[in-house]
Amino acid sequence: MYNGEKLDAAQFVADAIKEIKAQVGGDTVVLGLSGGVDSTVTALLVDKAIGHNLVCLFVDHGLLRKNEFEDVLKSYEGMGLNVKGIRAADRFFAACKGISDPELKRKAIGKTFVDVFADEARKVKDAKWLAQGTIWPDIAESQSAKGTIKSHHNVGGLPEDLHFGLVEPLKYLYKFEVREVGAELGLDRSFLLRHPFPGPGLGVRCLGEITPERIHTLQEADAIFTDALREAGLYEKIWQAGAILLNERSTGVTDGARTFDNVVALRAVNSVDAVTAEVIDLPFELLQKVARQIAAQVDGVNRVVYEVTPKPPATIEWE
Ligand code: XMP
Repeated sequence: MYNGEKLDAAQFVADAIKEIKAQVGGDTVVLGLSGGVDSTVTALLVDKAIGHNLVCLFVDHGLLRKNEFEDVLKSYEGMGLNVKGIRAADRFFAACKGISDPELKRKAIGKTFVDVFADEARKVKDAKWLAQGTIWPDIAESQSAKGTIKSHHNVGGLPEDLHFGLVEPLKYLYKFEVREVGAELGLDRSFLLRHPFPGPGLGVRCLGEITPERIHTLQEADAIFTDALREAGLYEKIWQAGAILLNERSTGVTDGARTFDNVVALRAVNSVDAVTAEVIDLPFELLQKVARQIAAQVDGVNRVVYEVTPKPPATIEWE
């Protein structure tokens, strides 16, 4: 916990359920699911407290990993959550058109997210509360004394007319504790050990302009990398890993002919709370295999590099 106390997950769940019930009574609560562990554990807790008075909205911004929206929506339904999937990729791509600056991209994605979410939340009759999977590092990083490092879109506010009160049962927990709470609630291991994923998704791993084609390229490269980590039994030992599509092209050669194509960077780090992170010394054979596979199978990519910078001085995400 943020105050250094050791978490008792069973006690936390019992207390949180009581507190949520006392806070919201018989009111309707909306919650944005992201596919990540924080919002999922929040949903399970609130669901335990108030059942179908919780309405979950899962927005597809088109910037998730390959097949992720469909797979995760099915899992949510399997958990018995009252969830609505909202396919809004077109709105996000339209909002990001022509924007290359990282902060402007984050703002465009964040604003569109708020717009899409607010449109859907207004359709939920008599909703009075918004439940969020905010955790302690989100609050600590947003309050950095030296100003905003990156705008985290999930900390942004909804329009005034919605007047929602906030339900944030995880706000004093670290990530590893959220996982303990998830395990206590019976959340499947594949979900519990999912890597953290930024709210703006692959948008902050697609350097330069975000287009459906560039995101598709990145999804394919990312899937090859993460599948290889899973096959090697490494995925669960890693805090976070993924591919980044650079905004540079470089010269290559295929079948004796010159190519001038995209560069993909691979990043894999370990961390405790994402405030600092260490690069993982992945087996060189695995990196070589993934590089060959990406260059051979992903159209428009002819070069793959592995990033070796810790945080600080780099951040985990490139944008
Ligand atoms: P950085 O890049 O700041 O990332 O070292 C630290 C951790 O935060 C995640 N991240 C985000 N998570 N909304 C989120 O929910 C965001 O806007 C966002 N930006 C970065 C990142 O993936 C890493 O785990």
